[in-house]
Parts: sequence; C-alpha cells; structure tokens
Amino acid sequence: PAGYVAAPYYPTPPGGWVSNWTAAYEKAQKVVANMTLAEKVNLTTGTGESMGPCVGNTGSALRFGIPNLCLQDSALGVGDTDNITAFPAGITVGATWNKALAYARGLALGAEARGKGVNIQLGPVVGPIGRKPRGGRNWEGFGADPVLQAWGGAETIKGIQANGVIATIKHFIGNEQEAYRMDIIPHGLMQAISSNIDDRTLHELYSWPFAEAIRAGVGAVMTSYNDVNGSASSQNSMMINGILKDEFGFQGIVMTDWLAQIGGVSSALSGLDMAMPGDGDIPFFGLAYWAYELSTSILNGTVPLSRLNDMVTRIVATWYQLGQDQDYPLPNFSANTADATGLCYPAALFSPTCITNEYVNVQADHFKVARNVSREAITLLKNTNNTLPLSTSATLAVFGSDAENNPDGPNACTQRSCDTGVLGMGWGSGTANYPYLDAPIDAIKRKAANVTYYSSDSFPSGLTAAAGEIAIVFVNSDSGENQYTVEGNDGDRSASGLYTWHNGDELVEAAAAKYATVIVVVHTVGPILVENWIDLPSVKAVVFAHLPGQEAGDSLTDILFGDYSPSGHLPYSIPVAESDYPSSVSLVGFEFFQVQDTFSEGLYIDYRYLNKHSVAPRFAFGHGLSYTTFSRTSATIAAVTPLSSIPPARAPKGSTPVYSSAIPPASEVAWPAGFSTIWRYLYPYLDDPQSITASSTFTYPTGYQTTPQPDPPAGGDQGGNPALWDTMFTISVTVTNTGKVVGKDVVMVFVQYPSDNPWDTPIIQLRAFEKTDTLAEGANEVVTLQITRKDLSIWDVVSQNWIIPVSSTAPFLFWIGDSSANLTLACESLSGI
Ligand code: NOJ
Repeated sequence: PAGYVAAPYYPTPPGGWVSNWTAAYEKAQKVVANMTLAEKVNLTTGTGESMGPCVGNTGSALRFGIPNLCLQDSALGVGDTDNITAFPAGITVGATWNKALAYARGLALGAEARGKGVNIQLGPVVGPIGRKPRGGRNWEGFGADPVLQAWGGAETIKGIQANGVIATIKHFIGNEQEAYRMDIIPHGLMQAISSNIDDRTLHELYSWPFAEAIRAGVGAVMTSYNDVNGSASSQNSMMINGILKDEFGFQGIVMTDWLAQIGGVSSALSGLDMAMPGDGDIPFFGLAYWAYELSTSILNGTVPLSRLNDMVTRIVATWYQLGQDQDYPLPNFSANTADATGLCYPAALFSPTCITNEYVNVQADHFKVARNVSREAITLLKNTNNTLPLSTSATLAVFGSDAENNPDGPNACTQRSCDTGVLGMGWGSGTANYPYLDAPIDAIKRKAANVTYYSSDSFPSGLTAAAGEIAIVFVNSDSGENQYTVEGNDGDRSASGLYTWHNGDELVEAAAAKYATVIVVVHTVGPILVENWIDLPSVKAVVFAHLPGQEAGDSLTDILFGDYSPSGHLPYSIPVAESDYPSSVSLVGFEFFQVQDTFSEGLYIDYRYLNKHSVAPRFAFGHGLSYTTFSRTSATIAAVTPLSSIPPARAPKGSTPVYSSAIPPASEVAWPAGFSTIWRYLYPYLDDPQSITASSTFTYPTGYQTTPQPDPPAGGDQGGNPALWDTMFTISVTVTNTGKVVGKDVVMVFVQYPSDNPWDTPIIQLRAFEKTDTLAEGANEVVTLQITRKDLSIWDVVSQNWIIPVSSTAPFLFWIGDSSANLTLACESLSGI
C-alpha cells in the first residue's frame, strides 16, 4: 500500500564512519587486511545447528586470536545452562519504570554471560513492542510503548556491554505475532507473515527503540523471522542497508534469526553480516547459503569482495569495541547437554567427545538485583480500604497452583513449555533454567504463621471462611515462542485469549463468594481481562507480579506484608474488553501463500488508541498504587534550545576502511592439506575452487546499485542525527511523600502536540519518565526530565526527516502524572508553567 517502504536500498553502507568506533575499526582493518578468504568467510557463518557449545557458533580466525564466537540466549539469563540467575523478564523490568535497576540487571546478566564464555548475548528484546495484546513474546520486551521500550533496551545494553559482552537488540522488525512467523519450505508454499508497516509508523513506533539501542552502542542486531512489507527481514535491503546501517548509523553486526536466511547473495547485498546458526533454512544436511557458498560467490564475483570485507570488519571491530581481544573466556558450558562430557557437535554424524560442562557458577549475589527488580515491578492495581499490606498474624487461605512450584521441578518442561506452578517466565528461547524458584507459597509460609494452602485450581467444595480469614488467590496467563504449543496456545495467546489460565477467573469468583476479603495475585505475560471479578465486593486488592523469574517468593511477600511499598506501574493498558482495540491488532489467521498483517492502526496502539477513541481502560497504561501518597507540585519548564522545525544538518560520514579489491586466490578456500572434516560442520572450503569462473548468469535484485546513496538527512551518528537528542526543554517537578510510609514515585511526562499541528498525531505520548529515590514520609525530591528534539518531532515521509510542528500560537503541552489517565499538572512550551 502507499506509504509502505518496500523500495530497494543498495549498496550496504560500510561500517567505520562513526567516531566512537574509529579505534576499533582501525584495529579491525589491520587484521582483516591480512585474512584469507577462508578466515573471512568463517567469521560470517555459523558452524551449523547444534554444531558447537552455544546456540550459535561462528567459525574462527585463530591466527588473529579470534576464536569461534559463542552466541547464546536469552534476554533474562544465560539460556540452557546451569548455575546462573533466572532474572525477571523484560516486561517486569518495564513495570519497575526504574532505569537504574534496568542497568543493574543488565550488568548482572552480562557478568553471567561473560562468566560462561558467551561473546554475544541474544538480548534484549524490544520487538515485539506489544502491538497485539495476544502476541506471544511481548513479555520478553519492556512494554507497549516505544519510549518505555527504548529505556529498557538501552539501559540493559549498557549494563550487558559494560562486561565486554556484545548485546543483541532483536527482532528487527515487526515481529508482532508468533503464528506464521517462518517460511514453510519450499518457499513457494508459504512465505513468512508480512508485517506491512508504513514509514511514519516504522519511525515513530517500531524502530524507535532500535535507534535508541544503537545510540546506546549495541554491538549486534538480530533480524526477525517475518517479512517486512513483503521482503524477508534477513534480506530486506531497505530495513538493513537503509534504516539500520545508513539512517541509524549502525556500526556493529547484523545477524539473522535462527534458520531465517533464505538466500545467499541476496542477503549479503542487503546488508546481512552473519548467518545463524549457519545452515540454510533446512538444517542438518550441511547445507548453507553462506560458508562455502559465500566463498563461491566471492570467487565468481557475484558478491562484491568489498561487501564481505565490510561484514568481517564489522564483526572484528565489534569484538575489539567490546574489548574481547583482552582475556576473554572461552565457553565453559554446553547448551546441548547437562552432562560433564559429551559430543562436541551433537548434530554431526560422528562427533568427537568434549568436556561439555564445567558448571561454572556465575551467580555471585545477583539474586539481590533479581529480587529488587521483581519487587519494584509489583503493581498494585486495586487496594480497597488499605487491605494491603497484610499483617503477619493474619489468617490466610492461599488458593491456586500458581502459588507453588511445579511438583516435577521448575525446569521440568523444556524452555518452560508448560504452565505448571508459579509462572516466573513465558516459554521459548527467551528463558533460562531456574537455579531454584522461590515459590510464593513458601515465602508466605515463612512470613505468616496462620496459612492454609489449597493448591487446586478448583475451589474446594464446601469450604467456608473462618472468621476474619483472608483469601489470596493466585492466577496466571502464559505465552511464548511458536515452536511450542502449550494448552492450545501456539506461542500467542491464541486459545486462552486475554483470560487467566486454568479457570483462574472461576477460582477468584468462587473465593469471592465465600470470603469477605480476597486478594488476587496475577503472574502474567501481558494484559488480562479482569471484568469477571474486579468489581466483586470482596475482591479488595489486586496485585500484578508480572514474570518475576527465580525470586517469585520473597519479592512478593516484601510487598504483601508491607516491608516495601509497591512502586510498579503497568507497562501496558488493561482494557475492559479486547474489542476495545481495533481488529487490526488481533492475531492474523491463515492465508494462502503469505499471511498479510497490515499495521493499519498506525501509531495508535495501546493507550494511544484508547485515548483517540475515548475508551476508558479498566486500568490505564502506567497505573500503579502505593501504600503511601505523593504530591507532585511546582512544575517548571525551561527552554534550553530554541525550536526549529528542521534539525540542524548532519555532518557527512567519516571515512571507512579501504582494502584491496583484487579477488583473492582460489587456493585460499581449497581444503587445507590433511584436513579431516566433520560431516555437517559448515566450512568455507571448496573441493575445486580453481574451477570457479566469473558468473555472468546472476540476476541482481531490482534496484541493485553499487553507487553509494546520498547521506540520509536523518542520519549522522549512531542512532541518527545527533541533533535529535538535543535537549529542547527541561521540566522539573517536586515530588513529596505525603503519606505515612516510605516509598518511590514515578513521574511520567506525556507530550501533547500543538493544537494547530497538521499531522495526525496521538493525543498524548509518553516521552520521559523518572523514578524517585526512596522518599521518607514528608521528604521531597525535585525530579528533572529532559525533552529532546526527537520527542517533539514527527517523521515526515516526504523529506525523510524529523520535523517539529513549531507554532507561534499553540504550545506543546507536557502533561505530568503517573499514568496515561492520571495527569494532573501541565507545562507548556510557549509561556512556561
Ligand atoms: C529464535 C528466536 O526468535 C530468537 O530470539 C533466538 O535468539 C534464536 N531462536 C536462538 O535461540
């Protein structure tokens, strides 16, 4: 459709022109200039599915000290191994609204990845953004808003990378539902779902957190399984060459999602740098689109040598940028087995045996940051008559299997592909093994003396409440990745919808019929519908604990019994009904050849849609109560930079490495003498490379060109034109704890565009937020928030630039509050307060 960017964008802008990567590129250039073709190809291609210790393993260039690089999930812990911390999920981090905690969790995650010898950690996730409430992997990211996602992603990246571990921001882009995410082979049968996203929506919503991740210095980007505007993400030249590498100035590595490469030359020309796990789309036969095929493509001239040099330079430069040339550990674990020794290459026909696991304990005291995040995320949605906090001497009846551990152990199901016991994370590759799972019921029993637990999800028949007895009912809602179907849900919440699993609603209703006071605790991947029970008179308190990871117990009792006041806020809206959202954000069903998913609601997801259509949510985006109260007063605004509609012009790109353009001798990819191969391992070598002659038959994609594109006006540094981050306004507000217990507040700023703004723009959009420190009773803190040029800009598809709709008569309004529905103060751009 018109406005949808499917245009070709060639050639790939080579990396090296961004100033704070210069030193790393200089080092890389010296190395790459001396590499053989085989060494170069080695680094670009994985060794094959299950052909090394990690979920992805590149070839090596040992002459230069570059080992097989280890790529390992996940965004919440080192995946598929032991002696690690199972941190709370991304959505839980989002619910804290605490940037420092997001960083601290990232720092701990990265320390664990390094301790296990992971070079490239496959997280964080900012796509899906959460466009579809039923989307299966929303919980891996930080919430249904680009600014919240951006902060979550950027702080996590900084934390991970402070350890020298390369972080990966994923999945670029439009990975908003799980069903139909991959091609059905052969490709003609059915292509992966196409996310059809118009250019403005792409910029203002979906790519926003990716740009911020690149600005934060992220070393790697993973493309998504889905197509974008009809072109596969792993070879979408507009998305990789155009958006990521030219406009966003990305200097690191672009890798595929697993088995998502569908073409060799086409992906190389479109800007892909690394094929993962190396195999083509059909694993287990030693077939690949790169490896030996990339060697062929260089020798026969179809892939320009300059492109391969750029791929490799990006990989080596990123390795230097993160300091991995200095004392970086090799992997000491295997994602394939828990045994101490086992096959080095489990997918091979004959594999040598290796020491597979050294069981290195990397946990340190990271349980503390895990518990802090889980606790600070806990979101109190309702608390009639100050039912919470509870007294430790209260008589408690606890209901629901979500309060206890899976009787078969917390890791009983592969990658958490069942919903048994307390839900600490969703399912799929975004998981890690629990070292332990502190179940809520155990923590409650440690805290309170009079506790009876009913683990059944059916209310015990005939049970009646003792005098004064309080019921705590645990319910959950799960989702995950498409390779597992759990209770009929194929990743997305396709079967359960937005309702609790295991008849949770009935359990709450039954308890509410018998108990005068019911507290509902919810572990969930995203919004659930609460209308069946939220207004029942005895449902006095509702607590969302999100996905707390291993610290599900103490983090919850810290809040339930009042050791801490809750300070979590919803990272999405909770609607009254699913039909409050447009049908375009429903899951898309089967279509022949290719499922089309057109993002026709544009910028209007979550609260933006509800506001536009004056639909009141049950609980607004950002909602979250506390045991104390806060006042927000004395809002002031200071203009820092005069508004101009167009940002100051970008600087031209800096120089990039230049290499010899001579095609290397074919002998560089001949099998080394006496080389013994492992069947299915992907090598760069060819049987008879000398016989390869220049190809004249290759048909280049439409729009292919080798002349560089003009510098995009919106580019200029990593993330984009640096002027986009100029501070335009500073807003200060005084937060005072006016209640009787200590607590933390969150200040959110939503911008409203000038009333004469000609662009169709959401009524309000979150642009800045800060969490206060712990404030004692009566204490106050002046919170200062920055509003940048980008925060005030719309994306103009015609000029391909960010434009501020400057008005001399109508101000920008900056609404201040603690949810999209509780904005009690405003500053304006023209006259100040
Ligand atoms: C597929 C998932 O989409 C991706 O997020 C993950 O990193 C890879 N598999 C590797 O497990």
